[in-house]
Parts: sequence; C-alpha cells; structure tokens
Amino acid sequence: MSSSEILYTTKENAEWWRSAVIYQIYPRSFADGNGDGMGDLKGVTARLDSLVELGIDAIWFSPFMLSPQKDAGYDITDYKQIDPLFGNLDDFDELLKAANSKGIRIIVDMVPNHSSDQNELFQAALKAGPGSPERDMYIFRDGKGLFKRKAPNNWPSVFGGASWTRIREANGKKGQFYLHIFDSTQPDFNWRNPKVLDYFEDILRFWLDRGVAGFRIDVAHGLIKRDGLPDTEDFSTEMGGSKSDDDLTIEQLERKNPYWGQPEVHAINRRFRKVVDSYDDRIMAGEAWIMPLTRMAEWVRSDEYHQAFNFDYMFAAWSKEGQRKSVDRSLKAFGDVGAPSTWVLSNHDVIRHATRFAYNDGELPPQGDGIGAHFRQPDQALGLRRARAATSFMLGIPGGAYLYQGEELGLPEHSTLDGKYRQDPTWFRTKGKRVGRDGCRVPLPWEAGVGAANGFNTTGESWLPQPDTYRALARDQQSGVAGSTLELYKRLLKVRKELGLGAGTFRWAPEFENENSLAYVNGNVAVISNFGTDPVVLPKGEILVTSQVDLSAEGYLETDQTAWVKLS
Ligand code: GLC
Repeated sequence: MSSSEILYTTKENAEWWRSAVIYQIYPRSFADGNGDGMGDLKGVTARLDSLVELGIDAIWFSPFMLSPQKDAGYDITDYKQIDPLFGNLDDFDELLKAANSKGIRIIVDMVPNHSSDQNELFQAALKAGPGSPERDMYIFRDGKGLFKRKAPNNWPSVFGGASWTRIREANGKKGQFYLHIFDSTQPDFNWRNPKVLDYFEDILRFWLDRGVAGFRIDVAHGLIKRDGLPDTEDFSTEMGGSKSDDDLTIEQLERKNPYWGQPEVHAINRRFRKVVDSYDDRIMAGEAWIMPLTRMAEWVRSDEYHQAFNFDYMFAAWSKEGQRKSVDRSLKAFGDVGAPSTWVLSNHDVIRHATRFAYNDGELPPQGDGIGAHFRQPDQALGLRRARAATSFMLGIPGGAYLYQGEELGLPEHSTLDGKYRQDPTWFRTKGKRVGRDGCRVPLPWEAGVGAANGFNTTGESWLPQPDTYRALARDQQSGVAGSTLELYKRLLKVRKELGLGAGTFRWAPEFENENSLAYVNGNVAVISNFGTDPVVLPKGEILVTSQVDLSAEGYLETDQTAWVKLS
C-alpha cells in the first residue's frame, strides 16, 4: 500500500483524549505567585485565562509533590503531599476547581520507577538489613569480586556515571549496592514485588479521588528490569537506549537493553489501567520512550495506556521524507492497536524545537545532553520559522497533541546558560561534559520589562535566568499582534477545534505537492508544508492559517512555511 492510500479515521471515537490538545506545565517555570523565583500553583491559577485564550483542552503538570528537588521534582519523597515550593493541597484543589470550571482538565505526573532517597520506604530499606522485606521494595544487591567492591552489573545511569551506589550498613561497614537508573538520589523500585504495586495503587486513587483527569506516567518503559540483571550491551544514555537498532527483533532489543521495555511491564500497565478505568473518563499517558514505534504501540493496546508520547515524531527531521515517514510509521503502528497517535515536538527533556530546527538532522548531541555556550549557536530566525511551520503541520493531523509551555511564544532554548546556574543532575554527574536539560526549563516571560524575569513574577527573582531574547517574546508583546507566534497558535487551535481536525481523517495529498513539499488532507482542509526553495502554488480555496505572514499575495508558499486551506 502506498503512503497516500493510508486512510485513517478516528471519527467513531468520541473519547476526549483521542483528539485533545494537552499543554505541559513545568511548575517551576510557568508563573511565580509569591515572588521567590520559583513558579507555584497559585501562579498557575492566576494565569489560567491565558490558557483558555490559547484554546487547550487539558494541562499535564510535571511533578509538584514533596521532593528534595535533586531532579527538579522527579525525585519524590511523599507522593501525597505538595512540595512547599509550589504550595499545598488546598492550592491544588483550588487550581483544579478553577481549571475545571473553565473547561480544562488536569493530568498529573506520576513517577513510579523510582522515589527520592528521602522517601520513608527507602530510608526504612537502608535501616533494615540485607534480605529484609523493606529492602525488597527497591533493588539492592551484593557487589561482585573481592570484598564485593564491584557494582553488580555494568548498567550506566542515564545522567552519567554508574547506576549503582554502595551503602553503609547500620553497623557502619560498607554493604550492598542499590540500583538507580537516574541520579543516585533516585533509587529504583522493585516492581517484581507486589507491595510496590499496592503502594502505587493507593497513590493513584488518592489523586483520582481529588478529581484529576489522569496521569502522565514517568519512565513507563523502565519499571521492570530483566530477570537476573544481566549486563547491558547498550551504553547509550538517551532515554530508551540507542536509536539505531530498528532491524533488531523485539526479543533482541529486550536482551540488549535489560532495563528498558521488558515484557513483564505490560501486566503492571494493565493493573494501572484497571484502577484508572474504575473512574469515568480518566486517562494514562505513558512516557514509554522506546523504539521502534511498533514496540511503543504495545504500551497503548486497549487495556494498557491510552496514549504514549510519540518520540519518533518528536525527532523526525524537518524534511519532506522525515515528516512523511514518521507520520506513516505513527499512524500505522498506533492505528494497528486501535490507539490514536500523539504528536509532540517539545518537552522539558529535549532542546526546544524553535532551536532544534535551526540545526540539520544529526548535528545536535544526543537527547538529554543539551547545548551550551561552546556549541555552535543557532540561527534563531531560521529555527523559529521552521518551528512555526512544523507546529502548523503537526496540529492538523488527527490524534492527540502535546504542547510544552512557552512554545506558543516561540521561545528558543537558553543555549548560553552559564554553568553556575545549571541544576540538571546530568551536569553534575558528568562534570559539565553534558550540559543537560536546563536550557528548555527557563521561566516564561509574561510582560516585557516587568522585573528581570519579564513578569514571571514582579520581584525579578528567577531560579534560572532568562536569555535576553525572551523580553521581546513576552506574552504581552505578542497578544493581539497579527503574525506573532502566540496568535498563530491561537488560530491553529481554534480552527482545529471548529473543524474537528483532531478527530478527523487523514490522507496524503500528492496532487498538491511539488518535489520538495508535502501535503495531506484532513476532512476538507489541505495542509501543505514547503521544505524546498521553489514556491508552492496553494490549492484553490480559503486560506485558513499560514505559519508566516509573508505569504505572497498570489498565494505561493515559500520555504519553511505551512498553510491550511479549506478546499473549495
Ligand atoms: C523522565 C522525566 C525526566 C526525569 C526522568 C527521571 O524522563 O521526563 O525529566 O529526569 O524521567 O525521573
């Protein structure tokens, strides 16, 4: 079957999440209500109307639970408490009520792969001796070799260094090692122990009872480690392992990456799903960072997750072939298991797409490494132009879409952030060799010139400083300004909703393409992107949206532009 014959419809599926636009809030950096330089829940509540105006359906919050913040909140001490940095449970209830009253659902982040080392379960495990039930909640092992000094296996930490740390036992002597696929302050739970599941079922219900619309599940592909903890053959520190193994079978991949995508994880997915399904209309979105997509699709079979983040699409090149192949793979892989595809270009772990697209495919370091002042700096105008074209291409395709805070302002990565501000554990664990992910986590600019952080608060305090370029991109500089990135996003979301594109149909439309452009049709809307230098003649009809205002009066689409045309 040729790609243009793929017909994909989600029409019969009324469930909201199949077509929703979900906006990711990174609580540290969205809006700061109390002026201490760290975003908080009250700050979000005060700014909710901006999200209503934008036209989103739901918010996914990165974690705000009690945490020593060694990995920006992905290290949780108490899953039922809000970290005082962000407020308290009353603030959360108020925010949830306010958001729901404006038609916005709230999804929270759940981090089941590991806790903080400050979690009472881990503290109890340290105190109890080897072989105790407390230790069995986590993954403790004796070391190997003389004096048991060597780590139990060769697994690397995603953030650099080894994934094992040796403890001192209660008697003061060097003792067992514990596993941490991430930072040493993030011990991995032992998901082969049913008590871990009991612990998390209770936490899921706690948040569902409060009224959340569901969960984004962190590291959903990592919960089960291969039996016997054999050595790994893959030392890639990208989440999910190296990307170049598309030709291996699933069994070979499972062997190669003993801590990613092990088959027994699906039984856990199903247990989570049962809990979520005992409430109406709730969802689970998995960070199942696992390639190829046919494998990721196993996470979204009808009794597992509702959605998985489409990392294949996130990293697709901005080229005709790159986009076409990734869309084909996505619709096929997810379609085969009856799930809608998701579409996503940015999040808190990757270089913002307004910067990423300023580079050609393969020029950037691996995911998670980030870029700093010593890296070749991006052509920001080029990056932004392509980012706007790419988002416009993405938002017309049926399925669920995820946006990351600040992309609606066209924010670039902070690509010259000084080392003294950096907080990502990757930075510390690699001694600055990999700068890490702070560059995409910088606080948002709201009102140009209000404090040093442009309205993030009024005090100007900011846990990471903004680059100078953020001032001109502040929301108030774009609101109501024709041609601004913010107005483009609003228009795209409005038309998408009005015409039901999220739950629409999809077919490639080669009749509207030239050699270097790509076109598809959803309902009676044609979406065309031009990757080449020859202008593209747009089909006849009403031009609904263009990614740049400089569309020529004759209706030609120039390089790195996307247009939506209602066919006449
Ligand atoms: C996920 C999160 C990332 C975090 C890691 C460990 O990949 O998105 O930010 O560092 O898990 O929890």
